Amino acid sequence: MTTRYRVEYALKTHRRDQFIEWIKGLLAVPFVLLSQPTAIYENDKSAMGAMAINAHDRYSQIMSDVEDLINDHIAHQSARHPTPSKLKLLVPSVGSFFTRLPLQDAFQWQDQKRFISSRRFVAPSFNDIRLILNTAQVMSLVRGSRLELMTFDGDVTLYDDGDSLRPDNPCIPRILELMSKGVRIGIVTAAGYTEAEKYYERLYGLLDAIAASNFANKLEHSLVVMGGESNFLFTYTPDSPCKLAPVPAKDWQLPEMSSWTEDNVKALLDVGEAALKDCVDAMKLPVQVLRKTRAVGIFPSKGIKLSREQLEETVLVVQRVLEMSDAGKRLPFCAFNGGNDIFVDIGDKSWGVMACQRYFGGIEGSKSLHVGDQFLSAGANDFKVCSNIARLSCTTAWIASPAETCALLDEISELKADKVHTDYAAFRDSVSA
Ligand code: IMP
Ligand code: MG
Repeated sequence: MTTRYRVEYALKTHRRDQFIEWIKGLLAVPFVLLSQPTAIYENDKSAMGAMAINAHDRYSQIMSDVEDLINDHIAHQSARHPTPSKLKLLVPSVGSFFTRLPLQDAFQWQDQKRFISSRRFVAPSFNDIRLILNTAQVMSLVRGSRLELMTFDGDVTLYDDGDSLRPDNPCIPRILELMSKGVRIGIVTAAGYTEAEKYYERLYGLLDAIAASNFANKLEHSLVVMGGESNFLFTYTPDSPCKLAPVPAKDWQLPEMSSWTEDNVKALLDVGEAALKDCVDAMKLPVQVLRKTRAVGIFPSKGIKLSREQLEETVLVVQRVLEMSDAGKRLPFCAFNGGNDIFVDIGDKSWGVMACQRYFGGIEGSKSLHVGDQFLSAGANDFKVCSNIARLSCTTAWIASPAETCALLDEISELKADKVHTDYAAFRDSVSA
């Protein structure tokens, strides 16, 4: 029988992250059993404090158990003939992990900030878990002194959608601090231009700040911009007027990219363009079609907002058509929903990140972190960094706004300075005070 649950699952699976949903389900049980919604009118402060401590302990225990399951999954991953781990049986869509994740510590730290255990009406949410996973990932990288490369998506991650990285952007001093400590930086954006000037127009705040810093020359070639997901690479150089110079293909392209010939690219973009045009006709979308050297997209005129349904329908149709086409089997591609436009790009961000790793001398996936806003399973462009096993490129942090990126950079800095302490005693004191 097709239950409502199954229908919802089939229809919405592209809008869910199954690993996070699964953890959310585990935490929902102690929430239901322990939360004290009646304390609001019974005015029982001691019951509230006891509830928070009890919930904190139970949530912590669950996070520690999930941590153990991930460790077991990592052991299965590295076996010569891997068999499915218990975690894989529980969450079939789970991918590979590059590092261990100290989830219990990360939960305790986030609980001290977000007071998840003190809530009576709102259970641990998708966002709570997403942020705990991000914290666990940076804890693992920083504590193991393994962060060598940090790559960032552009729109929504470093600046608002369609905006630019302006000089007053609070991420700038934080990125400079990382660079001064030897961390390489990559901006891996779908925005695809062939000229350095266009990237300078979008990123000038950061590029000018690096050039004006005390160590401008020392930082030459320690920041790159990868445009069109994985198609155009530029490196920071203080001598160029726009602070960026193109990098010769032989210094960054991966051997697999030799199949990205002009004929194959044209064939894929032709199929993508036809599929986009079919959707435009079928839904009478008020958009223009834009064909570029390595991409094809649709976007509406200024002031017009496409609906979520129009965007999702288009991206899912185009993706399916491309997957079934011969051209789509010859080349990797990324069809994604950019918030108010849809683009099909040649390659994807996993290739973009791997090319940055190669340019910087072969940095391993377990030593690089990609920060992005698009990690849902279809119609998203940062997702490819962590999806398909064959294209895995590095660890990831999933943020929802530039403010969260800033908070993540602060977390890294606090962790590097060893200022983060997760201890039960401090939590108990704060909730029972
Ligand atoms: P990202 O978030 O930095 O990856 O940028 C995604 C946005 O870049 C898209 O939503 C588009 O608005 C814009 N864009 C500009 N040129 C391109 C292109 O060639 N391919 C894909 N997106 C593009
Ligand atoms: Mg983005």
